[in-house]
Amino acid sequence: MKAPKPKVLITGGAGFIGSHVADAYLVEGYEVTVLDNLSSGRREHVPSGARFVQADIGSPDSRALLETGGFVVLNHHAAQMDVRVSVENPTFDAQANILGLLNLLEGARRGGVRRVVFASSGGVVYGEGERLPHAETAPKLPVSPYGVSKLASEYYLAAYAQLYGLESVSLRYSNVYGPRQNPHGEAGVVAIFGNRLRHGKSLTVYGNGEQTRDYVYVGDVARANLAATRWRVPAVGVLDDAAFNIGTGVETSVNHLARLMIEAAGGLGRVDHGPARAGELMRSALATAKAERELSWQPKTALADGLRLTYQWLKEAAA
Ligand SMILES: NC(=O)c1ccc[n+]([C@@H]2O[C@H](COP(=O)([O-])OP(=O)(O)OC[C@H]3O[C@@H](n4cnc5c(N)ncnc54)[C@H](O)[C@@H]3O)[C@@H](O)[C@H]2O)c1
Repeated sequence: MKAPKPKVLITGGAGFIGSHVADAYLVEGYEVTVLDNLSSGRREHVPSGARFVQADIGSPDSRALLETGGFVVLNHHAAQMDVRVSVENPTFDAQANILGLLNLLEGARRGGVRRVVFASSGGVVYGEGERLPHAETAPKLPVSPYGVSKLASEYYLAAYAQLYGLESVSLRYSNVYGPRQNPHGEAGVVAIFGNRLRHGKSLTVYGNGEQTRDYVYVGDVARANLAATRWRVPAVGVLDDAAFNIGTGVETSVNHLARLMIEAAGGLGRVDHGPARAGELMRSALATAKAERELSWQPKTALADGLRLTYQWLKEAAA
């Protein structure tokens, strides 16, 4: 008789990153259930081999699903993830990102879930002005309610580990890009540039374009989720013990990104300049030595290749 497949519940699995994570768990031999309210995700992004449950993470149904579903892993990607929304409406942000998480954790601990893999953000939890690239131990000083909700979530996970032995791993992503991404995420600029090029429009670069970000390909991020699922979690000493930066360590300027995106789209495209945007983070990059050492994970996809795959997908999705 075959052993039953381990069961994973993926929240946000109809979204950009979560749907790639769902694909990866299926290949790894998991029985996958996706929980998503479709607020920004799309039903067609959920892989056909997964079961789909449409519900809000804050609902009694979601908690009951975790209590009774026999899941060994909760992979949590659903979130309110717009920094500006979090500034305008911090209670809405906390409702989704903090109360939503707690609702899931209460179900998870009662349902015997063994491990939580959490999508945190290296772009928003660290303070500005530190030396780049940030290591996991860099000082934390989120400047947005969204950043606070990600860091607070990591603390709640550490508390649940101590209270109930519920293991957790937080993956602090840099700017994730790739197929199925929408223009609203932290690396939304890739989707925005791609869509404008597809329509023959110019790319707008705000300020001098020398602002940098660390762009990591979504396929590499999905692999990191599997590695985090297999990782032997140590007893929690300090918060950063159970956290990994997932990025490339490479700073890419908006000017350079625009050039690469134009190449990915076949070489034709113009760049316009607009006024600098107030409050924009000037530089960002994440050191990944810890993930390389402990998860045996490293990014494999070169930016030019990832952008080509993304542009290809944008064209096919529109056709
Ligand atoms: N995209 C990035 O560059 C990036 C960087 C750092 C961290 N993250 C984190 O990764 C996760 C996934 O981001 P993404 O870029 O795939 O975004 P996304 O919007 O494509 O995916 C989020 C998914 O969660 C669902 N969702 C939102 N609120 C929900 C709720 N209350 N109940 C149930 N489902 C809900 C949405 O419908 C969507 O399918 C988020 O937690 C985000 O904060 C993303």
